[in-house]
Amino acid sequence: MPLSKTESALLISFAGDIARGAGEILKDGFSKVRHVKMKGQIDPVTEFDVRSEKFIKSAIHREFPEHDILAEESGGEDKKSPYRWIIDPLDGTVNYAHEIPVYCVSIGLEYEGECAVGVVHDPERNELFTAGRNLGARLNGKKIVVSPETKLDGAILATGFAYDVRTVRKNNLGLFGRMVKNAQAVRRFGSAALDLCWTACGRFDGFWELGLHPWDAAAGLVIVEEAGGKVTQLDGSPYSIYNFGILASNTRLHRQMRKVLVQRKGFKER
Ligand code: IPD
Ligand code: CA
Ligand code: CA
Repeated sequence: MPLSKTESALLISFAGDIARGAGEILKDGFSKVRHVKMKGQIDPVTEFDVRSEKFIKSAIHREFPEHDILAEESGGEDKKSPYRWIIDPLDGTVNYAHEIPVYCVSIGLEYEGECAVGVVHDPERNELFTAGRNLGARLNGKKIVVSPETKLDGAILATGFAYDVRTVRKNNLGLFGRMVKNAQAVRRFGSAALDLCWTACGRFDGFWELGLHPWDAAAGLVIVEEAGGKVTQLDGSPYSIYNFGILASNTRLHRQMRKVLVQRKGFKER
């Protein structure tokens, strides 16, 4: 049974408040970053990723002590709850650490294994994206819908590169090259959660990436779908936030994007 509309609305409002609170922590810390630790060769974490995550987790623990949490910096808890919050306390850490104002807080909620609620807050533009299943998607309270674009030729797309880009064979560089030749333009802004939200509100016409983590996509997935978009794996099969590849679009461009990403016999390179 899905969450009732009333419960979803309450959870969206709760998540929106904590995302704004965490966003304040990030905005205060922006340009004050002193300690950057490396989790991998090119994968940083700042003290503000950690502070934001602690703030969000303690708010959830206070309000819903029985709920589970999966958070990027501290991992998961397993209380066998049907509710699981999936948190990226700072999406766009590389930007943040370099004082590039493109980053956000992403909070998704799984209910009985399905992404049910999503909230993404962009503190630099004061934009709060929210969505709940069957409740639509909103930006600062106003309903949003995906773009009307129907031709890949005229489409502006977004993508990104996972931190293992230097070492893995399936690293998105080939796909990036192909898409650049087929779309009007492709952007790489460095925050997958914002890429999804910007697809939901029609700034981008589509987005794809390889190797995202559940916390990058849990909130954005609901926001795109509720805005009338489509989210699948690259080949068009059903998507879960635990899959390797994600393809999100305004629905209208889905087939055209898929054809470029997954080339079958007879595909002509441009
Ligand atoms: C990263 C960003 C980036 C994407 C990477 C993610 P982080 O998340 O979303 O846009 O390309 O795959 O890991 O590390 O800034 O939270
Ligand atoms: Ca992230
Ligand atoms: Ca992060």
